[in-house]
Amino acid sequence: MSAALAATSGANVSIQYNEAFVRKFVIATIFWGVVGMLVGVVIAFQLAFPVLNLDLPWTTFGRLRPVHTSAVIFAFGGNALFATSLYVVQRTCRTTLFGGEAMGNFLFWGFQLFIVLAASGYVLGITQSKEYAEPEWYVDLWLTIVWVAYLICFAGTLMKRKEPHIYVANWFFLAFIITVAMLHLVNNAAVPVSFFGTKSYIVWAGVQDAMTQWWYGHNAVGFFLTAGFLGMMYYFVPKQADRPVYSYRLSIVHFWTLIFLYIWAGPHHLHYTALPDWAQTLGMTFSIILWMPSWGGMINGIMTLSGAWDKLRTDPILRFMVASVAFYGMSTFEGPMMSIKAVNSLSHYTDWTIGHVHSGALGWVAFITFGCMYNLVPALWKRERLYSLRLVTYHFWISTIGIVLYITAMWISGIMQGLMWRAYDSLGFLQYSFIETVEAMHPYYVIRAFGGVLFLVGALIMVYNVWKTIKGDLRTEESFEQPAHVPAGAAE
Ligand code: HEM
Ligand code: HEM
Repeated sequence: MSAALAATSGANVSIQYNEAFVRKFVIATIFWGVVGMLVGVVIAFQLAFPVLNLDLPWTTFGRLRPVHTSAVIFAFGGNALFATSLYVVQRTCRTTLFGGEAMGNFLFWGFQLFIVLAASGYVLGITQSKEYAEPEWYVDLWLTIVWVAYLICFAGTLMKRKEPHIYVANWFFLAFIITVAMLHLVNNAAVPVSFFGTKSYIVWAGVQDAMTQWWYGHNAVGFFLTAGFLGMMYYFVPKQADRPVYSYRLSIVHFWTLIFLYIWAGPHHLHYTALPDWAQTLGMTFSIILWMPSWGGMINGIMTLSGAWDKLRTDPILRFMVASVAFYGMSTFEGPMMSIKAVNSLSHYTDWTIGHVHSGALGWVAFITFGCMYNLVPALWKRERLYSLRLVTYHFWISTIGIVLYITAMWISGIMQGLMWRAYDSLGFLQYSFIETVEAMHPYYVIRAFGGVLFLVGALIMVYNVWKTIKGDLRTEESFEQPAHVPAGAAE
């Protein structure tokens, strides 16, 4: 048996893993996913029909947008990362959680408190105005405590492992936890104005602040939305396909190259700004090189199915996972291309960026999460299988159509926007006024909002399926060969 398969299958049947708290993280992932996507749909309609801002401060696009981004990235993505990392580390190390259920529960409630403090602040207008790092100092301090506990818990579990080998998924999870801690501390270094007030000033100034912010912002993408989710891929794709990972050697090369390169690529967010030119070129160069390890990882994920491609016909959960890895490949081709200065001079500030973001966010992050949740729910609640695989199939196709509508609408609108902004007439005057470009985007905003509704409907189908599974119902479906799920704890 290869090292990878051994690590993901294990042989010890007697360990009682800590998983009651993992169930809570799974429910929270699905709950916040629906909330975040719902707010996404609302702001998408607000962009198409501004009257929906309702003329109230709390419901304006400016306040709801960070509610959306934080809800989907930190609440949906974060809870999914907690659930999977703490589930995977126990199984691949064949040991229980360091700190046990009590530690798991502290992490769960501590992280939910962070989410509520952050979101309530946004709606009330309390913000640092740093994208993806909007929460003010008091929320940042609380997150630091929770995050340090997470690191201690994860590293502690690794240290008491019964397995000599540390499976590659844990490398990715650990890199994600450590790097996010570092990014969070540096980017949020701030001086509060008063002890009981909510306002603070960031210690960095001018272009240093911009660079620190996008070093943070880009690596939030690289480590929160990528490395952690690659950890999920490396455990759950082999598990669901019942195959060893395609190349263990490639996974190690993938890991070291990815973490070495990502950290330098942030300046591609600041092309043609006051940032020194050499720093912009450095960011661009590292971003282009980043294409290679990204595709190495994608190939490793997809090729894990070699010899088992037929399973894609009967297993829609695996279909979610494989489609997610394909979207990962697509967005990590598009990203390096957009980092080229000449391309970025067209794409920057336009909806093309939003299209890129959502091909990664919906296609990669959300799809791999859906796949993992479908895998985890029967295992955690010790059910024979999911309530219905047909509903998983509906979820898959409805969401896929939603993504296609979303990202193609944004590509067309973004490229059109960029071209209209830079069009000159024969006398050298700008050919279009700004409002003409806004009018031209309207139909695409409506299509995007509709795509978002489909994506949300797919997620609601998942809610129903998960709820029925937890209740213990089974739907008879002859056209699907449901692989019986071996209850967790009986065997891994
Ligand atoms: C129903 C699904 C979703 C809809 C309808 C939606 C809609 C939107 C809209 C309208 C914006 C603002 C765009 C703008 O300012 O022009 C946005 C921004 C954003 N969304 Fe979503 N979204 C959805 C799901 C997600 C998910 C699942 C994620 C992440 C996992 C995500 C991550 C983001 C990010 C990072 C931004 C900020 C992009 C930037 O500043 O460049 N979204 N979304
Ligand atoms: C090799 C990998 C990647 C590279 C080199 C890359 C590069 C880029 C570039 C050049 C931009 C536009 C910057 C601008 O003009 O302001 C961008 C924006 C963005 N990308 Fe990527 N990307 C990659 C992968 C991904 C993935 C997989 C995701 C999602 C999971 C993602 C999420 C984002 C987000 C959220 C933004 C918007 C940031 C903002 O302005 O708010 N990227 N990326």
